[in-house]
Amino acid sequence: MAEPDFDALTQAARQAMAAAYAPYSGYPVGAAALTDGGRVITGCNVENASYGVGLCAECALVGQLQLTGGGRIVAFACVNGAGETIMPCGRCRQLLHEFAAPGFRILTPLGVRDWEQVLPQAFGPADLEAPQ
Ligand code: THU
Repeated sequence: MAEPDFDALTQAARQAMAAAYAPYSGYPVGAAALTDGGRVITGCNVENASYGVGLCAECALVGQLQLTGGGRIVAFACVNGAGETIMPCGRCRQLLHEFAAPGFRILTPLGVRDWEQVLPQAFGPADLEAPQ
């Protein structure tokens, strides 16, 4: 299978980063994902005066995914305020995992990786189907 266009995804993530609301950390983040339906969806972080309730860029992204037709994520990239590739935080890896397509690839600061390499042995929907 052809590698997703990570340059285009990075550009989309940078554009989303420009819309971030990060007055408290001063650390804007933009995220972009390609869906199995061919859509590119994005998100930015949205902080709050009650610091702990701030939303990561990936939270906005999964909301956009659902709002714009759903589907599964086949490729993902996120950037900081300098436009550099960063890793999604642990909680956001779990958020993304819920919508991971088979063969999901992620751009990391060390290059493109398989999703399983950045969230090994993930807990996911299938676990809830197992006998209790
Ligand atoms: N942040 C994200 O938006 N996504 C991540 O995966 C890492 C962290 C945001 C949260 C907070 O607004 C800022 O970066 C600094 O932690």
